[in-house]
Amino acid sequence: MRFLSNTDTQRNEICNAMKPFDPRPLVRHSKPDIAIDSHLPPATASDKIAFAFVKLLRFFADRFFAKRYGHRAVVLETVAAVPGMVGGLWQHLTALRKMRDDDGWIRTLLDEAENERMHLMTFIEIAQPNWFERYLIVAVQLVFYNFYFFLYLLAPRTAHRVVAYFEEEAVYSYTQYLAEVDAGRHDNIPAPQIAIDYWQLPANARLRDVILAVRADEAEHRDVNHFFVSELDSRKAHRPLEGQTAP
Ligand SMILES: [Fe+2]
Ligand SMILES: [Fe+2]
Repeated sequence: MRFLSNTDTQRNEICNAMKPFDPRPLVRHSKPDIAIDSHLPPATASDKIAFAFVKLLRFFADRFFAKRYGHRAVVLETVAAVPGMVGGLWQHLTALRKMRDDDGWIRTLLDEAENERMHLMTFIEIAQPNWFERYLIVAVQLVFYNFYFFLYLLAPRTAHRVVAYFEEEAVYSYTQYLAEVDAGRHDNIPAPQIAIDYWQLPANARLRDVILAVRADEAEHRDVNHFFVSELDSRKAHRPLEGQTAP
């Protein structure tokens, strides 16, 4: 029997064994042509609840961060990276229980989580959270992870709508951040290397280029999550009633 220990040789062996799993660097192909100003008006009661919930959180975020967009991005990206992982987990469990294909949902949701984590890794190079914000991140994660876990279990449609409306707000916030940079009220500093590598930006890219890339990602998440809601609606509409066979 082989016991794991922390010897350097064993650690190197394990690290080398992990590399072939996926040796590619993390990169993102941004969509510069994606529609930015897009809003889906809430139609159903659950849409209206999702919309009101997101607007309430936006109100508190605006009061707390005001125009400190770098800090806002760091704190809120720690929250934004949660739903994709939770949704991916639930879709994975559902595919196992129902023994059916996931139609690409799991990878899409995990990709969203990874993408949001890269937003965080980028903005942490631009703004350092203060000690209060660090405690806030821990507290919010504790509450939000559990909230979203049960929301997805009980009402996946509303959960995706909440994320879609979060993303609409994220697009709006990054547009405001861009306006601050363009007006010269925020230094257009050189882009962090991690952002240049991830979005494959030119070597002389600046903060403005990073914000444009991040905003396009948020717009994509918005569209994907609104699409997931439509998919759930259409599956429900076409599902045969209990006890009846499909024609
Ligand atoms: Fe993000
Ligand atoms: Fe996002």
